[in-house]
Amino acid sequence: MRKLETLLQQRKIYYDHEPAFRALKEKGKTGWRSGGQAANWAGCWKLFQASECLPKPQARVLDFGCGGGEFSILLARQGYRVVGTDYSPTAIAMAQANARKSKIPKSKIQNLKFLRQDALRPQLRPASFELIVSLFVLHCFIGKDRMVYWRNVRKLLKKGGLVALTSMVDLPNNQKMLRQLKINQRTRVDLNRTRCFASEEKILAEAKAAGLEVIFHARQKDPDGADGLTVIARKN
Ligand SMILES: C[S@@+](CC[C@H](N)C(=O)[O-])C[C@H]1O[C@@H](n2cnc3c(N)ncnc32)[C@H](O)[C@@H]1O
Repeated sequence: MRKLETLLQQRKIYYDHEPAFRALKEKGKTGWRSGGQAANWAGCWKLFQASECLPKPQARVLDFGCGGGEFSILLARQGYRVVGTDYSPTAIAMAQANARKSKIPKSKIQNLKFLRQDALRPQLRPASFELIVSLFVLHCFIGKDRMVYWRNVRKLLKKGGLVALTSMVDLPNNQKMLRQLKINQRTRVDLNRTRCFASEEKILAEAKAAGLEVIFHARQKDPDGADGLTVIARKN
C-alpha cells in the first residue's frame, strides 16, 4: 500500500506540482516518483518506437511536462534535439542537474535545454517541433484546461509532426485507491482536484477535437492502480 499512501500525500492542490517536487527533493529524489517509483521511461520509448512512425534524430523534440528530465536525457542521448519544459522550478533544476550528471557526450548535451514554462501558456515558437512527447502529464489537467493543453500541442507541432503521450486512463482498478482518492464518478476527478481519470474514448476524442489524427494507441494494464494509455497522433 506504499504506492497508495505516496499517491495521497504527493499532491493536494490542482495546477501546482511545485510543493510535491520540493518534498521529493527533500527525500533525495531526482525527479517525479509515483508510489516511490520512477516511471519506466525506456519501456515508454520502446512502445513509441513500436509504432514505427517516429522521426529520426536529429529531429526537434519537445518534452512537455518533463519533470526531472529523465526522458529528455534519454532522447538527447540518441541524438535528438530536445527542449524539456515544466512549470515547476524545482523540476527544472532537477532536470538540469540530471543532465549535468549524465554522461552524454558534449556534442549531444548542447542539444538539450530545459525551460520553466507552463504547458497551458507556452512561450515557444509555433510549428517548431517534429515530435512532442509528454509522459504522465495529460491526467494532471482538469476541465477546460485539457483542451487548452491539446490545442497547444497541435500549435507547437510542425505540419506532419507527431505527439506521443502516455496518460492514466479510466478509474483505478484498486478499490481502496478509488475510495481514498474520492474520485467523482461523473467528472472522474479526485477530491483534491489533482488528476482526471478520463476514459479511453474521451482521450481519443480530445485528440481528434484538437485537430490531430490518432495513428496508434495501446493500453498498459496496472492491476494496482490506474491503467496507462499511450497515444500517438499526427498533425496533418
Ligand atoms: C506525473 S509528473 C511526470 C513527469 C515526467 N514527464 C516523467 O515522466 O517523469 C507530471 C509532470 O507534469 C508537469 N506539469 C503539470 N502541469 C503542468 C503545466 N501546466 N505546465 C507544465 N508542466 C506541468 C508537472 O510539474 C510534472 O513534472
